Amino acid sequence: MAKSLWNDKLSVGVPLIDQQHKMLLKHLAELSEAVESHHGSSEIAGTLDFLVDYTDFHFSAEEKHMKANGYPKFEQHLAVHEGFKKTLANLGEDFKEEGATPSLAEAINTLLINWLLKHIEAVDQELGAFLGEKGVVLEEEA
Ligand SMILES: [Fe+2]
Repeated sequence: MAKSLWNDKLSVGVPLIDQQHKMLLKHLAELSEAVESHHGSSEIAGTLDFLVDYTDFHFSAEEKHMKANGYPKFEQHLAVHEGFKKTLANLGEDFKEEGATPSLAEAINTLLINWLLKHIEAVDQELGAFLGEKGVVLEEEA
């Protein structure tokens, strides 16, 4: 089983967003392990497909709440989300063309996992604090 990347320091103080971050990190860890251990290409492709869909779902949720609450840094936050989606799409293309190479594994660890951890600890925690000040309560979803 892939190692867990979540720790409580990553909490943005909004249960719904934390729940989605845990889901993303879980599947990113699975992707990293699958690529490093050369699991079957259908498993890797399946995890990549899930991540593309779930990233869209999660970023859209954050963006919806930013918009609904007049978040002043909406445009900047949106732009970094778009950048991550492009990176993920590009790595999916690399996988299709070249398979589970060491450079793909390296890119997953740096451009996806480390990127997301940093994004959560800076940009998303700032958003979480803003939503908290606004009194916005978003509970976990079943
Ligand atoms: Fe974000």
